[in-house]
Order: sequence, then C-alpha cells, then structure tokens
Amino acid sequence: MQAGTAPGKDFGKPRRIDADLSLEQPANLSVSPALFQKFQKLIYAETGIWLGSAKTALLCGRLFRRLRALQMDSLESYYECVSAPEADDERARMIDAITTNETRFFREPRQFDFLVQKVIPRWQREAESGVRPRRLRIWSAGCSSGEEPYTIAMLLARHLPAEAGWDVRILATDISNRVLNKAIKGVYPINRLSELPADLLHTFMLRGVAERQGEMKVKVEIQQMITFQRLNLDREADLVEGPFDAIFCRNVLIYFDTASKHRVITNLYGRLMPSGLLFVGHAENLSSMSLQLRCIDPSIYAKTEHKDNSF
Ligand SMILES: C[S@@+](CC[C@H](N)C(=O)[O-])C[C@H]1O[C@@H](n2cnc3c(N)ncnc32)[C@H](O)[C@@H]1O
Repeated sequence: MQAGTAPGKDFGKPRRIDADLSLEQPANLSVSPALFQKFQKLIYAETGIWLGSAKTALLCGRLFRRLRALQMDSLESYYECVSAPEADDERARMIDAITTNETRFFREPRQFDFLVQKVIPRWQREAESGVRPRRLRIWSAGCSSGEEPYTIAMLLARHLPAEAGWDVRILATDISNRVLNKAIKGVYPINRLSELPADLLHTFMLRGVAERQGEMKVKVEIQQMITFQRLNLDREADLVEGPFDAIFCRNVLIYFDTASKHRVITNLYGRLMPSGLLFVGHAENLSSMSLQLRCIDPSIYAKTEHKDNSF
C-alpha cells in the first residue's frame, strides 16, 4: 500500500457544517433574530467564524449543553453572561461548544500521497545537495483533536527519521481547549485503527490492554515531535514565529467569512518560507487571494517567492 493511503475509505466527502447538530434541545429554546445577531457578532469577534442566519438551529443546539450546565433557561440570560467583559472562561467554553471539530487520521489522503511522493523526496534531495538543512518546521493550524498533526508526524518520522539526522518539529494549534486536551493525550478509540495504514499503526501506535482495552495511543516518540498550543488564528496568527516549510490549515477557513479568511491566509502566507507549502481543505479555494501562491495540486499551494518551486 502507498504510504499515506488509508485502506478502503473515502475520506474526502464534503459534509454539512451542521451535520452534528444536537437534537436534544427542548422545543422552547428559541432565539429571536435580534439575539441571534448578537451571538453572530460575538462569535465572529471572538473567532472569525461567521454563522449565517440559516445556522439558528445549530446555535441553539450547540449552546444547549452550556445552558444546562449553568442551569439557565434562556439564551438571553446566557448572552448576558457570556458577553460580560470578565467572562473569558465562559467565552472559551462557548467557543468549545460552537466550533466544528470533525477530523480523522489521513483525512483527504491524496494530500498525504502528494507529501510522500513529491514533497518529501524533494526535501531529501535538497538536503543531500546541501541546499537545505535537515530541519523541518511544520504548522497544523486548526489541528482539532490531533489526528492531522499525528498523521504528519508519523509520515515524517517514517521517511525523514531523526536517526538520519532530521530535526522535525510540528506546531499544532487550535482555538478549542476541549479538542486540544484530547490531542495532547493522543488516545483514540481502537475502532478507528482502519484510518491508519497497517505499517504506521504497528510502528507508531500502542494498543490498550486491561483497563485501556478498546483504546489506542500514539507513541511518545511521535508525541514528542509536536507542540500543542491554544491559538486563535483570526487574532494571534501573527504571533507565531515561523518560518514554516509547510502549513496545514485544512477545513478551518470554510467557517470564516471573506474578511476573516483573508486575514488568516495573509498571516499564514507571511509565516511560510520562500519555498513553503500551504495545504488547505478540498472545499477551500485561494484563487481569489492576491498573494504569490501557485496551486501545485488540488488544495496545495506553493509560495512563489522562490525561484524553483516546481513539483
Ligand atoms: C473541522 S476542524 C479541522 C481539523 C483538521 N484540520 C482537519 O482537517 O481534519 C476545524 C478546527 O478549526 C478550529 N478553529 C475554528 N476557528 C478557529 C480559530 N479562529 N482559530 C483557531 N482554530 C480555529 C476548530 O476549533 C476546529 O477544531
């Protein structure tokens, strides 16, 4: 099997943003258009995520658990609470509730095939000819519960191992504390092992036994390649120190409006090395961005400041 190709699965199908809408909200949990607009503005200001008016039911569904936890019975009361200047913690919990965190190992496997077949051999050639050091810096921006950065780390550990002198570090960031806590643990249900090719599974995953039965855990050597950090891409991307050889910002921008998408991409672009690569989700097109980016494969862009970035 080709490295990077998960067996027997089509991981690339588009999915509705509100597909995991909770159905357990009570019928009387409603939001007026005026209140919806207040939440819309607050969420946009906090995250860059734009909830269109068709997302009213989604908002109610996702905030219902916060209301229940706080023993509140209306979204008006919740808005008063969460919009108070000192309510930073509750705003973080609201963001945890609002964000869509769907992810998988080897999601959009075609991109990982490209990484293995085209990008890694090029990095190897450049290192062998002395054009680049054996050093790689990668950013998984919007990493959710860790499957994306762990996929990247396993592939790089397999093809560019530390024993061959490679120094590979991955920064993995997300705005949601809830998913970051999962990512840091690196523990996943064993029934998801079919997302990983058998060779990577056997080399880099541990199977839980006894009270850990039913789980698998990423090995420490892979975890040590990654630094997880909370970061708001819309507000703080410019604080990240680069430059990066590759940035993965996949299935994040679809939730943003044109302005916030533009802000984020411009910041990511500024953090790429002259020959750096930007991987976005298959539904995210950057052709309208007036940046020096060239599409080299579907949803993969190369910064064109570099003279030779042909693939
Ligand atoms: C659908 S997941 C995508 C995960 C992974 N990149 C993938 O493609 O499988 C989108 C992630 O973006 C994060 N996100 C949304 N807005 C963000 C922001 N302003 N800053 C950082 N992360 C954000 C969400 O919390 C969520 O975990």
